[in-house]
Amino acid sequence: MTMTPFPVAQKKPQLLRLHHQDDEASRVELATGLLAEVSSIAPKFLYDALGSRLFAAITELPEYYPTRTEAAIFTTHKAAMAAAIGTGRTLVDLGAGNCEKAANLFDALMPARYVAVDISADYLSDALDFLQFRHPAMDLLGIGIDFSTTFTLPPQADIEDCVVFYPGSSIGNFTPVQAEVFLRQIRAAAKGGGLLIGVDLVKPVSVLEPAYDDALGVTAAFNRNMLTISNRLLDADFNVSDFRHIACFNSRESRIEMHLEALREVTVCWPDVNGASTGKSGRVFHAGERIHTENSYKYTLDHFATLLHVAGYTKIRYWTDPNDWFAVFWADH
Ligand SMILES: C[S@@+](CC[C@H](N)C(=O)[O-])C[C@H]1O[C@@H](n2cnc3c(N)ncnc32)[C@H](O)[C@@H]1O
Repeated sequence: MTMTPFPVAQKKPQLLRLHHQDDEASRVELATGLLAEVSSIAPKFLYDALGSRLFAAITELPEYYPTRTEAAIFTTHKAAMAAAIGTGRTLVDLGAGNCEKAANLFDALMPARYVAVDISADYLSDALDFLQFRHPAMDLLGIGIDFSTTFTLPPQADIEDCVVFYPGSSIGNFTPVQAEVFLRQIRAAAKGGGLLIGVDLVKPVSVLEPAYDDALGVTAAFNRNMLTISNRLLDADFNVSDFRHIACFNSRESRIEMHLEALREVTVCWPDVNGASTGKSGRVFHAGERIHTENSYKYTLDHFATLLHVAGYTKIRYWTDPNDWFAVFWADH
């Protein structure tokens, strides 16, 4: 007798697009940053569909230790994490990217629902389609949103008592003061839920700097892609070959900084953007002048545990790798 496999209902992921990178507010933010005395572009502008793919490529590089170190921590301590966290809860993945890290935890955490949040909505949509193919019966919700100014998810997210997952040390893109505010907002929004968060730790500069300036130049391309994004959003005329990628460790601030440095004097123009504070529509970058594009703060275990406490979490535990290069914290209550 031949057995007919029990049919599994194939669900479809739902996607809510609540942010559009090309809206007026984004253009004003971009222009205002570029025109500031020390020019800057916020790291969220690294992620269009190409930027998201370049980041995925970075995670494969030998120099980029965070992804594989964090993955090894999950592999080693998955069972202990599941015992601490419990199973069958909603898993809310902040900055989900290709959703791979969360998907690798599905067997241990057995989430009832998966809510993936990311500013790069087209990339997220493709990632969720692929994930649904592998998990046909799971409820998947994607939310295309910018959570950098305030962490507010729509009611459909229904995140009460959920597990918030924030891997990859993306928390390091905020200053410690901003990080505390963000952690408080997460805690308030998840009402009784917990936070599983990956945090990069202080380590030798000889390990840190190559991770953000790899030999193949993938991180350089990722950083310089911001100029292409700026051209598209602002109708600006940056020439990417006028700028080089810089990554350096600022030990006083305990952070890797990424910059784009002008190789020669460059004049960049774009049409006026309504509301940009100076009313200018372009600027001159002198040779050696930099656009600050990303910070990635490196914490000690004590400093980050204190930050979680100050943000209101009372039950905190963590797991690390044998070198103490990276930590995964579970913060609850
Ligand atoms: C460093 S990547 C991490 C991706 C993945 N979670 C991982 O750990 O490999 C940061 C992710 O956060 C998203 N992101 C960055 N800024 C964001 C913002 N302001 N709001 C929402 N998502 C953001 C990016 O699109 C990207 O997918």
